Amino acid sequence: MVDAVKKYFDLVKAFESLEPDEIEAFRISYLGKKGILNSLFSDFRKVPLKEKKSFGVELNKLKTAVLEKVRDLKEVSKKKSGSNKISDPTRSAFKINTGSKHPLSIVKNRIIDIFTQIGFNISEGPEIEDDWHNFTALNLPYHHPARDMQDTFFIETNPDILLRTHTSSVQVRYMENNQPPIRTISPGRVFRNEAISSRSHCIFHQIEGLYVAKDVSFADLKQTLNYFTKSLFGNKKMRLRPSFFPFTEPSAEVDIYWGLETEKDYRITKGTGWLEIMGCGMVDPNVLENCGIDSENYSGFAFGMGIERIAMLLYQISDIRLFFENDIRFLKQFKTTI
Ligand code: DAH
Repeated sequence: MVDAVKKYFDLVKAFESLEPDEIEAFRISYLGKKGILNSLFSDFRKVPLKEKKSFGVELNKLKTAVLEKVRDLKEVSKKKSGSNKISDPTRSAFKINTGSKHPLSIVKNRIIDIFTQIGFNISEGPEIEDDWHNFTALNLPYHHPARDMQDTFFIETNPDILLRTHTSSVQVRYMENNQPPIRTISPGRVFRNEAISSRSHCIFHQIEGLYVAKDVSFADLKQTLNYFTKSLFGNKKMRLRPSFFPFTEPSAEVDIYWGLETEKDYRITKGTGWLEIMGCGMVDPNVLENCGIDSENYSGFAFGMGIERIAMLLYQISDIRLFFENDIRFLKQFKTTI
């Protein structure tokens, strides 16, 4: 009888398939209800008494051998099928260096997120503008001294065409094409004929905001800006300081309290602890009328901020030129999933 079991040991040893189906069939043929082991165990009765013990030992060995075989074959089969699965056979064998988002994009997207959460949409306009949209419609007629606030790149052959000096031009375009209620923010690149230094550049980015509806008040502006500065800077104090812009009346500048803890804080805040982050105000009724909106019925507020300036504050970057040099050592510090 014991010899009969030996035959099965040889069969188990010989089995080498790595096909999952065949391994399973093998397992069932031995360990299943009607399998070889069960039928051998039922032969147990017929085994002569003196062989019973060794027969039992052999059967248990056979069972263990089958279990081990199945486990080993399954393991090898799994490894093999895993290594066969190449998700992209054209992929480079060398490590791929992934890029990172530009810090200006990161900050721009954060600002956009904050405003879209309270119902603002996004609008864009052309970088090459005409005089009307960049200046005249915004209460800055020809020869108005306030035009000097923004040194402009004009196109030599056509003084009516220029590179926009601010994204406020998008306000005008948006109001010309949409009636209130209007809630829009306009990110974009702007150009000014300025000497390049660590603090200013001839190309930079702004985000403009505009809200026009019935009964919009200065309190609405203040609340919106409060929400914005809290979301972006955390619990820093904000204040509004009276200022002048031709397109808003009254106008204000927005400061946040940066603190005066370090020498650097003294330097960047000129010893006051406060930092200016944007301009804002109630849209001048003339501007609403210029854009085809009834200023008797509607009022609105607007604001505009420089993205570089905010990115420099958030990331403690001391030279604006770094944003445009595309030095990989600078850029890779901003690796993020945002
Ligand atoms: N356009 C202004 C600038 O570039 C910023 C600005 C100030 C925009 C006040 C506004 C505003 O909409 O109300 O300096």
